[in-house]
Amino acid sequence: MARTVLVTGGAGFIGSHIADRFLAHGWAVTVLDNLSSGRAEQVPAGARFVREDVGSPAAAALVEAGRFDVICHLAAQIDVRNSVADPVADATINILGTINLMEAVRRSGAPTRVVFSSTGGALYGAFAEPPSPEETPTNPEAPYGIAKLSAEHYLAYYGRVHGIEAVVLRYGNVYGPRQDPHGEAGVVAIFCSRLLDGQPLTVFGTGRQTRDYVYVGDVASANLAAATRPLPPTGTLGARAFNIGTGRETSVLELAAELQRCAGVETPVQLAPARPGEIERSALAVDKARAVLDWSPGTTLAEGLAATYRHFAAARGRPAGS
Ligand SMILES: NC(=O)c1ccc[n+]([C@@H]2O[C@H](COP(=O)([O-])OP(=O)(O)OC[C@H]3O[C@@H](n4cnc5c(N)ncnc54)[C@H](O)[C@@H]3O)[C@@H](O)[C@H]2O)c1
Repeated sequence: MARTVLVTGGAGFIGSHIADRFLAHGWAVTVLDNLSSGRAEQVPAGARFVREDVGSPAAAALVEAGRFDVICHLAAQIDVRNSVADPVADATINILGTINLMEAVRRSGAPTRVVFSSTGGALYGAFAEPPSPEETPTNPEAPYGIAKLSAEHYLAYYGRVHGIEAVVLRYGNVYGPRQDPHGEAGVVAIFCSRLLDGQPLTVFGTGRQTRDYVYVGDVASANLAAATRPLPPTGTLGARAFNIGTGRETSVLELAAELQRCAGVETPVQLAPARPGEIERSALAVDKARAVLDWSPGTTLAEGLAATYRHFAAARGRPAGS
């Protein structure tokens, strides 16, 4: 019988790629999503789709009755600025929604493994020297990061006390086809649209601030590895946490130049005043994921940006480069 996976947030950017990947490996896939930012047409045709809120009794009932082999939990409020504007809404989805799922797994008594999508960039904060390993002291600056860290603590608790296998994947800035401009790597989607419109690229601050841009296909591979590989013993918060990035810092100016090269389109780069609260440098060390999950980021920035630009061009009915 096919192994079963529930992908919460599977109508969204990263979740839909994960659903695709599990289907391609022969799993039976169920997607749970309330379509608050996701789109029904992104749910792969081979998946069962349940439209519910992750915090609802119906979602809990689905998990309890479903006794899934794996849950990839991505459903979340993902916008850091929204979390600052409305921390209650952010925590309701990102903390309470997670607890709702974990309680349902506990009640089910099934040997479900939970793979949680967390963040590296928003957890380690401004004082970490990149590339940051998993042991870097956490220092989230916005409610979004605080809620993700809080959910990680709950997962560690469910592992320690209730024996539920939970893996935490801390992503860098994920980019790729279907991405939304509001996510942590929104700049890639914004730059693609600007290039397609022949508009200048706006860069805030010096443009030398760095991020770790990881391709969504590599993030899907990391979820499959985390769902299937043997895990280290549980215990501390970080024992089963893995950074998923490239280990490389890319500045916004480098990103703009590389994307223009991949797109074969050049428009001017305009500098605008720095945005308050932005951290200067960020990249994630990925040695632990390489060693334990046998995972590595296989897509170069040039390959990933080219695929992303082609996607946005095709969405407008234009071949890339025109
Ligand atoms: N994009 C990044 O760079 C990045 C970086 C680090 C972590 N993450 C995490 O990865 C996950 C996926 O992010 P994404 O970029 O694909 O965002 P996304 O907005 O495309 O996906 C989130 C999905 O969750 C759904 N959702 C939101 N609230 C829900 C609720 N209450 N009940 C049910 N479904 C709900 C949305 O409709 C959407 O389909 C999130 O947990 C996010 O925090 C993303």
